[in-house]
Amino acid sequence: MIRHPLKLAGEMPHPQAAAQMPTEAPVLMDTFGRRHNNLRISVTDRCNLRCTYCMPEEVTFRDKRELLSFEEIAAFVEVAASLGVNKIRLTGGEPLMRKELHKLVRLLVAIPGIDDIGLTTNGLLLAQHAAALFDAGLRRLNVSLDTLDPTRFRALTRRDGLDQVLAGLAEAKRVGFAPIKVNAVAIRGFAEYDVVPLAHYCRDHGLELRFIEYMPIGAEPWERDKVFFAHEILELIRHNVGPVVPAPHDPSTPAQDYAYTDGRGIVGVIASVSQPFCHHCNRLRLTADGKLRNCLFALEETDVKVFLRAAVPNRAAIAAAVRASVWAKWEGHEINAATFIKPQRTMHAIGG
Ligand code: 5AD
Ligand code: SF4
Repeated sequence: MIRHPLKLAGEMPHPQAAAQMPTEAPVLMDTFGRRHNNLRISVTDRCNLRCTYCMPEEVTFRDKRELLSFEEIAAFVEVAASLGVNKIRLTGGEPLMRKELHKLVRLLVAIPGIDDIGLTTNGLLLAQHAAALFDAGLRRLNVSLDTLDPTRFRALTRRDGLDQVLAGLAEAKRVGFAPIKVNAVAIRGFAEYDVVPLAHYCRDHGLELRFIEYMPIGAEPWERDKVFFAHEILELIRHNVGPVVPAPHDPSTPAQDYAYTDGRGIVGVIASVSQPFCHHCNRLRLTADGKLRNCLFALEETDVKVFLRAAVPNRAAIAAAVRASVWAKWEGHEINAATFIKPQRTMHAIGG
């Protein structure tokens, strides 16, 4: 299997490989014709949990001076918006570990062309910050929660905090966030116990539940056997919660949603391993330390901090770097291939 089509372009010409990279048009296109409008920004690698599937128990976090400032992030987003990015998601680590995150939200909301900003949080600090984030203009929230059982919560996250997450969800609802999505990573040995209680909880509380197949991006060695697959999740739901039917699919999102036939809610699955969505991928990522990644599983990064920290921020250089990074994107992650190489950065240092 070929991991990087461009590197091997001489041997295996891709239909569009000979095409010219756009240098003027306000679009971010790759050689597979995928247009990129979705930027995920990690604001910190710190986290107040230590989820086993995401990071090792002992971690050395980056020096704060290495992290992009809010002004630097906003300057980057202005350039990205001029290239067609209109959707942003703030991630971490745990983004609410970054002080006064609402100030960044306020800066980003004001950037012309940005019309959708979301936040993915573990929810521990959400009760404290929900109101300020909402006032700053944030509306979309994803809260990661894999179990409603305190013992399994501790086993998965190596910390306590379930009650804080539930309080965060309640407060987010109270201040008016919509939609609020709950993300659960589906790992064999856990999901069997948690799928059904989570589904009931989310239905009862008006939350959209989404399961993500466990991916090889944490510190642990990759074992495909640990993935609890989307079809298994749906089987548990159908047998124990209620009948569901596929909802219309939006090809720009990796999730396939299912609607309960009694009209009470939606459950989604992201089949990142069993049915990779790479061919529809529209995402690029900016790490907290100012590196561009064109894929969660990318093995190479492009430094843009150097341009953002120049005496006069070099917008043209940033735009060229973003275009080139997207243009160099490979066809897909190939988690399922024997040649798959796990990136060195684990999830907490990339951004979910
Ligand atoms: N596989 C799938 N999803 C993961 N996340 C973190 N690590 C993994 C993994 N190995 C998800 C979290 C959270 C987001 C930040 O990324 O559940 O929703
Ligand atoms: Fe923290 Fe999220 Fe990683 Fe868990 S998945 S350790 S909450 S960054």
